[in-house]
Amino acid sequence: MDSSLSGFYKLPVNERRKKIAELGGLTADEAALLERFGALDEPTADRMIENVIGAFPLPLGIATNFKVNGKDYLVPMAIEEPSVVAAASHGAKIAREFGGFEASADEPIMLGQIQLAGVKKIPEAKKKITAASGSLISLANSCDPVLVKFGGGCRKIEVREVKSKRGTFLVVHLLVNCGDAMGANAVNTMCEKLAPELEKITGGSARLRILTNLAIHRLARAKATFLRCETCTPLIGAILDAWALADADAFRATTHNKGVMNGIDAVVLATGNDWRALEAGAHAYAAITGKYKPLTKFYTDKKGDLVGEIELPVAVGLVGGATKTHPVAKACVKLLGVKSARELACVIASVGLAQNFAALRALAGEGINRGHMELHARNVAIAAGAKGAQIDAVAEKMIREKNVSASRAKELLSG
Ligand code: MEV
Repeated sequence: MDSSLSGFYKLPVNERRKKIAELGGLTADEAALLERFGALDEPTADRMIENVIGAFPLPLGIATNFKVNGKDYLVPMAIEEPSVVAAASHGAKIAREFGGFEASADEPIMLGQIQLAGVKKIPEAKKKITAASGSLISLANSCDPVLVKFGGGCRKIEVREVKSKRGTFLVVHLLVNCGDAMGANAVNTMCEKLAPELEKITGGSARLRILTNLAIHRLARAKATFLRCETCTPLIGAILDAWALADADAFRATTHNKGVMNGIDAVVLATGNDWRALEAGAHAYAAITGKYKPLTKFYTDKKGDLVGEIELPVAVGLVGGATKTHPVAKACVKLLGVKSARELACVIASVGLAQNFAALRALAGEGINRGHMELHARNVAIAAGAKGAQIDAVAEKMIREKNVSASRAKELLSG
C-alpha cells in the first residue's frame, strides 16, 4: 500500500471513499457507514476540510440545570465519554440551589505575534516601534474594515525581547479586539500585513506572524457556591483535600484540568469552535506561574460553605468558521441562546467549573466508578453485539454481578 495517494485530493468524495475502502480493506458494510453524512451534508463537509471521505458523528447531549448570571441555558455538549453530560448537569443542579453561577468574560482581545530576527539595535528598534504604533495600528485595521465597523480592531502594540537558543528576538504583540469572532483569521492577516513595515522600521527579518492561543486578555471566570457548611462538613473537607493535591502536584493537576476540559471541550465542539485552541490556551494558562496548577480553586467562605472558582482563556466566537458552516453547530448556538462571544465564554467557564466540582465530589466520596459503570456497561453490551432491549438487560446483569466485561457480555448474549 502506497500512502502517497497522488491526486487523491482532486477526486470527488465518492471516488475517494471507494479508493480508501479498497486500500484499507473495509467491508461493504463498513464502507457504507462512511456514506452516512447525516446533518453535515457531503458538499458542506467537503468544503470544510481536505480529502473528505465521510463524516464522524458524535453523541450530542444537553446539560441541564445551568443558570449563569441569572439566566437559564440549555447547554449542548458533543462528546464520546460517558458520564460527562450527567456530571455537568449534576454540578449545575447543586450550584443552582445557591443561585447558580456568577460569570464574567473579558473583552474579546486576542494577541498576534510577529517575530523579528537579526535586529541589531534592540533598544532603538523598540523605541521606533513604539513611536510608529499609531500608524501601525491604522495599517492593521485597514485589513478588516468590517471588524472595525462593528467596534473591533487592533487596539495596541507591545514589544517584547525574547532570548532564545538562536539569539534575541524582538517579538511584537498586536492586541486585537475580535468582537464576536474567535479571531484567528483577522489577527493572522494583520500580523502578515505589519511584518514588512516592522522589517523596515527595525532592520530585522520577520519570521513567524501568527496569533497566540495563550489569550491572556480574553479570560473568562465563573464562581458558584456548592455545599452548605452545616450539611456537608466532611465532604467539604474531602473536596478541599482533593483540590489541595491538585494545587500541590502536577500529576493530579493534569487530571483535575482534564476533567475541567471534559465539559469545556464538549460545549466548544458543539458550538463549532476550535477546542484545540482552548486546550492549548488552558494548559499554558495553568502553567503561567512556572508551575502547572489547577484551573479552578475551591475554598470555604466566611460561613464555611464550599465555593468554587474558575479562570481560564476562552477564545470562542459566534461568527466565522464552523460556527457558521456546520448546521448542527448553528442549531446548538441557537438553542443555547447566547447573544455574544463573551456570553458564550461565561457559559463555557461555568460548565468547566460544574464539571470539575462534580468530579471532585464523586472522587472525594464514593469514587467515580459507580456513576461511570452504568453507561460503560451499556457500551460494553453494545460492543459485544447487544441490540435494542438486550442492551439494558445485559448491562444491568453485568452491574449486578459486578462483572462488566466484554467476555461476560458475550456469554450473556449467547446464553
Ligand atoms: C475523567 O474523564 C475525568 C476525571 O478523571 C477528572 C478528575 O479526576 O478530576 C474524573
